[in-house]
Amino acid sequence: MPYELLKTKPEITLIPSQSIRHRCIMTTDHELDQAWQSVLEKAKSLTGFCHDDETVIQEAAEALLPHNQKIVAHFYDALFSNKDATEIFKHLNQDRAMRELILQRWLESLLQGNYDDQFWRWQWLVGLTHVQHHVEPVYVLSMFTQLQNNLAGIIFKIFDTDSSERLILAYSRIIGCLTALAVEGYHREFISAVATTGLEGAVLNRLVAIEVKNKIEAYRKLLPNHPTQTS
Ligand code: HEM
Repeated sequence: MPYELLKTKPEITLIPSQSIRHRCIMTTDHELDQAWQSVLEKAKSLTGFCHDDETVIQEAAEALLPHNQKIVAHFYDALFSNKDATEIFKHLNQDRAMRELILQRWLESLLQGNYDDQFWRWQWLVGLTHVQHHVEPVYVLSMFTQLQNNLAGIIFKIFDTDSSERLILAYSRIIGCLTALAVEGYHREFISAVATTGLEGAVLNRLVAIEVKNKIEAYRKLLPNHPTQTS
């Protein structure tokens, strides 16, 4: 980006090339847990996910668990209908049956509804696994919607309208928490990786703000009369 386009010149201290080499940030167990706990706390508060939701999900587990395989098969039918998504698995040398088994175990845990620290810590790890394999967030988030809608369809067939509504809302809230963990995993790990080069968080934030500001101005030109235009 040419400097003249920047209203505020970013204050960047150039780092000698040697110190740009990757420095791994060591993390204590406490810090590892703090990462997902702080995200989860916010997500629970804003989605409204609560203990009652857990109870509702636990009570429905027996009826839903027999549908596990069907839900997972539907998940991979949808995912593998996208050629680019399929590519991601090619280098792993795993067949579809292996993938399905992994997701069945994950879904079983979700449907059982015992959401203790181990459960949430694992969800954070699952999110980081996708970051490690360069699975773009768009895939993961879209597949959460697939999963949620498929589950809702099955719930409507099994339960009466009131129970379905209550259960679907509970799943919607927990899946909201899971997507929040997934997205924050990407965000934090990218920031954290950049930080290992020596670039400070504040400088990075300023650079992002400048980049975004320019793009917003460009989009405003493309959207002169958008519904929230104030001036
Ligand atoms: C609702 C969305 C998804 C869920 C719940 C999910 C769940 C999981 C789970 C439980 C694991 C194993 C993590 C572990 O090591 O314990 C995993 C790994 C993985 N997932 Fe997903 N996944 C989702 C979406 C996707 C999508 C959309 C893709 C690709 C397009 C994908 C690609 C992968 C890959 C490449 C791995 C690593 C496999 C390995 O290490 O053998 N996932 N996922």
